[in-house]
Amino acid sequence: MKIVCLFLAMFLCASCVHQGGQSAGTVDSLSLTVTKRYLNLPVSQQVERSEMQFLLNGKTERTFAIRLAANPEYWTFCDISPFMGQTLTIRYSDNAGGLREIYQGDTINGQSGLYRERHRPQFHFTTRRGWNNDPNGLVYYDGEYHLFYQHNPYEREWENMHWGHAVSRDLVHWEELPVALYPDTLGMMFSGSAVVDFDNTSGFGATGQPPMVAAYTAASPAGQVQCIAYSLDKGRTWAKYSGNPVIDSGSEWNTHDTRDPKVFRHAASGQWVMVLNECDGHSIYTSPNLLRWTYRSHVTGFWECPDLFELPVNNNPVDTRWVLYGASASYMIGAFDGNTFTPQQGKYCYTSGALYAAQTLNDTPDGRRIQIGWGRIQQPGMPFNMMMLLPTELTLSTTPNGIRLFSYPVKEVDNLQEEGIQRRLLSVEAANELLKSYPNAGSLRIKTTFQLSHATSAGLKLDGQDIINYDLNFNRLNGNFYSPPEMTSMALTADILIDLTSIEVFIDGGAFSYAMERTPLNTTGFRFWSSHPIEVKNLEIYPMKSIWK
Ligand code: FRU
Repeated sequence: MKIVCLFLAMFLCASCVHQGGQSAGTVDSLSLTVTKRYLNLPVSQQVERSEMQFLLNGKTERTFAIRLAANPEYWTFCDISPFMGQTLTIRYSDNAGGLREIYQGDTINGQSGLYRERHRPQFHFTTRRGWNNDPNGLVYYDGEYHLFYQHNPYEREWENMHWGHAVSRDLVHWEELPVALYPDTLGMMFSGSAVVDFDNTSGFGATGQPPMVAAYTAASPAGQVQCIAYSLDKGRTWAKYSGNPVIDSGSEWNTHDTRDPKVFRHAASGQWVMVLNECDGHSIYTSPNLLRWTYRSHVTGFWECPDLFELPVNNNPVDTRWVLYGASASYMIGAFDGNTFTPQQGKYCYTSGALYAAQTLNDTPDGRRIQIGWGRIQQPGMPFNMMMLLPTELTLSTTPNGIRLFSYPVKEVDNLQEEGIQRRLLSVEAANELLKSYPNAGSLRIKTTFQLSHATSAGLKLDGQDIINYDLNFNRLNGNFYSPPEMTSMALTADILIDLTSIEVFIDGGAFSYAMERTPLNTTGFRFWSSHPIEVKNLEIYPMKSIWK
């Protein structure tokens, strides 16, 4: 409920203050004494964005673009607890009506229905309000997995990049924490990564706590530069390094595209390594202390969001390869000596569809290489947009085509399964009869193997949408060329994870996967189909528990 009276010292100075350097002619403002944790902000996609400023004692604390609206379509919020007890002046360069609707509260607008909104994914991370894209700063430390992410707190579309933050103890239940990094004079907070500096090479950990150190891109019209921030309280609050930027390479590459530093500790060479996308590929930099970086080498053919990691082949710890990775999930397999990546095989792709800009976690306690990808999935009509896809474990296996990257949901996802049903050796008709008990799907995990008897095609639909469409004549699976690891196989195994707005499909143990938006064309429910008789060798159906309380 709106509590207008909470504006203890509020005054509204409508359409009168003119401000130098602003494009809009008028600036409106209000002042209030901060007494509550949140400032609730009314927004609408129907109005233009304008600039909002927060000032404390005449000093600008925050500046961002927002579509403030007197008739809001939905509400976003910002955490103003750091300003508690102080007089906050809010300036807005347009649309005075919206200013009057802003109010403070101990809860966010819509708190009571949070995580139960109509299209809220039930077992995937989504942000409470606003927009998310890439996962950032994925790192494990002291019992917590950290998920930072590209975030616009003020609107359901991309703008104002901040680093949002959530933590999890089990990779599936997430708790959203306050924003970690706010835009500053160097620019918006674009993608990056985080490490724990256990040996305090950076010197930030003067208190005896190993600092958590983030490397991120600050992006402004002047260019994209790489910066460092650190936290001494497990990622809850962050300070930016006074020597930022630590890399400013745009003029060397004659481009604005230098971004998304992924940093990790390279034990063999005893140094920090950064993979950074610059211009036409991924560069490698090294550092003794996370602050002084030296350019070492470059591999062309990648765009955005690099990653570089070592994996055993077929689980054999003495036979390893390095994987160089780009935002689209294309990768090369090769060797890495601490300074240079030498491709030996590639490029390949193990997934297609909604996944983009995925990153792997640093410092997992059991050494698993766990990846989380941005799910480019629309959340129609919601006060939030986009999502994270399920964490998957990446492995390397030998196939008849060579070594390939496999991706499969982490075992922790199994804990979300309710008791289900398991059946074997079914006809299409019998399988469809069983699936009739799940008319509106909700959130489900379905595992199935079906055997094609006589090429050419078979599949599974949900409400007219192709979950699986396998054409063994053209070897196409949902539009992608697919060659099974066992190349003469006539069977297909699928692990299907259906949430309210998304579907993820992992084929043949993770040899290939794809993610898509749920776009029902009708209400016909699940349907196996085939051009010639098939046998459903296995069908397991598990309702999935919600991760939200
Ligand atoms: C990838 C990306 C990154 C960039 C970020 C900005 O989705 O374009 O390259 O850092 O998004 O939000």
